[in-house]
Amino acid sequence: MITVENLNFSYTAKPFIESMTFSVQPGEIFGFLGPSGAGKSTVQKILTGLIPSYKGNVVVNTVEPRRCGSAFYEHIGVDFEVPSLFEKLSGRENLSYFASLYKHTFPIEPLLESVGLAAEADKKVSAYSKGMKSRLNFIKALIHSPSILFLDEPTSGLDPSNARVMKDLILQQREKGTTILLTTHNMYDATELCDRVAFIVDGSIRSLDSPRNLIMSRGAVTVSYSYKEQGTEYQRCTQLSSIGEDTELLNALKENRLLSIHSSEPTLNDIFTELTGRKLQ
Ligand SMILES: Nc1ncnc2c1ncn2[C@@H]1O[C@H](COP(=O)(O)OP(=O)(O)OP(=O)(O)O)[C@@H](O)[C@H]1O
Ligand SMILES: [Mg+2]
Repeated sequence: MITVENLNFSYTAKPFIESMTFSVQPGEIFGFLGPSGAGKSTVQKILTGLIPSYKGNVVVNTVEPRRCGSAFYEHIGVDFEVPSLFEKLSGRENLSYFASLYKHTFPIEPLLESVGLAAEADKKVSAYSKGMKSRLNFIKALIHSPSILFLDEPTSGLDPSNARVMKDLILQQREKGTTILLTTHNMYDATELCDRVAFIVDGSIRSLDSPRNLIMSRGAVTVSYSYKEQGTEYQRCTQLSSIGEDTELLNALKENRLLSIHSSEPTLNDIFTELTGRKLQ
């Protein structure tokens, strides 16, 4: 759905994005994970035709974004960092207006219901909370049923329950077969949502794989457990790879003396820091 080969771009004379190459398969959620200023939004702007002055080969849904016409936008949906909505219009009026820009669109009512905005659809957007604006901006991106969605920090600034709603909607879009490219600096979102994730720092991709492979490829998984013996409680740590040889653990298990046990895999944050030498936040 998306191929990027040897992409080069900078806002200034100093090189920024250099020789970037990656591809996004149909129906996958592909994430860009990186700290502020890494270039995540810049790459999305290039892929959506907003920055035409790049070098290299970029193809999005068979179209080179720097040469795209209006038909290109019938197939892509964009939910960027700052919601772009008309504050003096209601939520429903905003959706009707944006729907009028496309040839084929979804009915508005089910979209409003899907994000819990049906009851407030006739309020002016200026009276919406930040979370309500984010949800409206998200369904605005879905109104023409795009085959590729670009989501820039989709859960940023949302409270946990609104972030959950947003993540469920993103996962529903994947079930429908939509290809999604999202950016985040939240390792939990990247781990939960993304089929593959690219670590991006200073305009370059430092690593690219599934979150699980990234996590499991580095560092040993440790297992911590506690058990009791003759009235005393003991805490122990062992490697998951050699758990079968840990006689204290095996005896405590057999004799029903085990009090607790848990494994601790490194997080995507740990792996990010290990591979890039940088912190996400
Ligand atoms: N229009 C612009 N003109 C000049 N420099 C820009 C412009 N937009 C972004 N930059 C610079 O390019 C770099 C990458 O910015 P970008 O917005 O792509 O980062 P990001 O990874 O999306 O960060 P964040 O997590 O804060 O959104 C930053 O150093 C930023 O200051
Ligand atoms: Mg950004």
